Amino acid sequence: MAALRVGLLGAGNISPAYITGIGDWDVLELAAIADMDEAKARAVAAEHHVPAAVSVDELLASPEIDIIVNLTVPKAHAAMSIRALEAGKHIYTEKPLSVRRMDAKQVLETAAAHGLRVGSAPDTFLFGQHQTVRRLIDEGAIGHPIAAVANMAGHGPESWHPNPAFFYQNGGGPLLDMGPYYVTCLLNLLGPVHSVQAYARISVPERSAGEPAGFQRIPVETPTHFGGTLDFHSGPLATMVMSFDVWKHNLPLLEVYGTEGSVQVPDPNGHDPKEVRVSHRGGEWEEVPSRYAGEFRRGIGLADMAEAILSGRPHRASGALAYHALDVMEGFFESSSQGKRITVKSSVERPAPLPIGLAPRQMDA
Ligand SMILES: NC(=O)c1ccc[n+]([C@@H]2O[C@H](COP(=O)([O-])OP(=O)(O)OC[C@H]3O[C@@H](n4cnc5c(N)ncnc54)[C@H](O)[C@@H]3O)[C@@H](O)[C@H]2O)c1
Repeated sequence: MAALRVGLLGAGNISPAYITGIGDWDVLELAAIADMDEAKARAVAAEHHVPAAVSVDELLASPEIDIIVNLTVPKAHAAMSIRALEAGKHIYTEKPLSVRRMDAKQVLETAAAHGLRVGSAPDTFLFGQHQTVRRLIDEGAIGHPIAAVANMAGHGPESWHPNPAFFYQNGGGPLLDMGPYYVTCLLNLLGPVHSVQAYARISVPERSAGEPAGFQRIPVETPTHFGGTLDFHSGPLATMVMSFDVWKHNLPLLEVYGTEGSVQVPDPNGHDPKEVRVSHRGGEWEEVPSRYAGEFRRGIGLADMAEAILSGRPHRASGALAYHALDVMEGFFESSSQGKRITVKSSVERPAPLPIGLAPRQMDA
């Protein structure tokens, strides 16, 4: 089977997950890694057996690379994606597509002008349990969807991330960092969003990290608590909380409510291994087994894009999907600052569900 050659741009915290995930798929071949910190790229390459560590310029110029995977920090996403596209490479970027809608639009326009693909994380909506929920909703297992809740609440990434400052700068915050998982999950289940209304707050003006060694004060530039509602074209209203300000809670991560029942959706970030659970007309929750054969990991969206390039079909974790998700999230900021409901200008079709029974290695979707 043909494989497309992948170059990783960014050798930070998430890069090992991609190195492992790429290994799950025959359609992907990891060729090289680069970082503006070249020593970091060399260290990751040595530890995880990546064939080459090169400079950023070498990666972009290499005729050996078909797809650049952009794992830089969010603020650098758009500029680096555009550089890669202008160098003739397809790009697949970590989320968000960009921190600003106008830059994201430029990424999509550059790709279109060069006849290249843009893919974007998150691809967790392609994991087996999420695809199972999609099938259940499409089959009418909960009747017609009328509402949903989506909640990500915690006390921020400084408890686990080695360089947490960027999460509190403009372009960071819980909405742009975690919102892509939840919004994309909802888009996959319920389709495009018509309008949003939201509030946003900076609850604590300064955070601290690295205690006691390497203590650093982190000024908070961007809202850390969001509450809002998404009004979907297909009818449902989803209420969403995205927060770095909550120590403890009992909120469900994501649930969808329909005219005939309810469905509990596993963690949109892919960490919580809980089963899909459905209740019919107020009855007990019943577990529904996944209809997919294996455990998927980050990289499935990239594999799907590679196979789509080779076979000439649309890919699922697309730039258009990520753009609509960003448009929804920018709507949250605008609604909060302007004190009014915001109509979301872009739209997107739901990506096709994955074929039932699909397992890692073979992407023949
Ligand atoms: N860490 C996670 O668990 C996680 C999970 C999912 C998604 N992500 C996403 O992955 C991306 C990277 O996150 P991370 O946690 O790995 O961050 P990180 O800070 O650990 O690593 C980012 C790397 O990118 C490099 N870099 C920054 N700008 C660059 C540029 N212009 N050119 C070349 N290299 C550049 C930095 O030197 C650094 O090594 C972010 O978009 C984040 O949202 C991270």
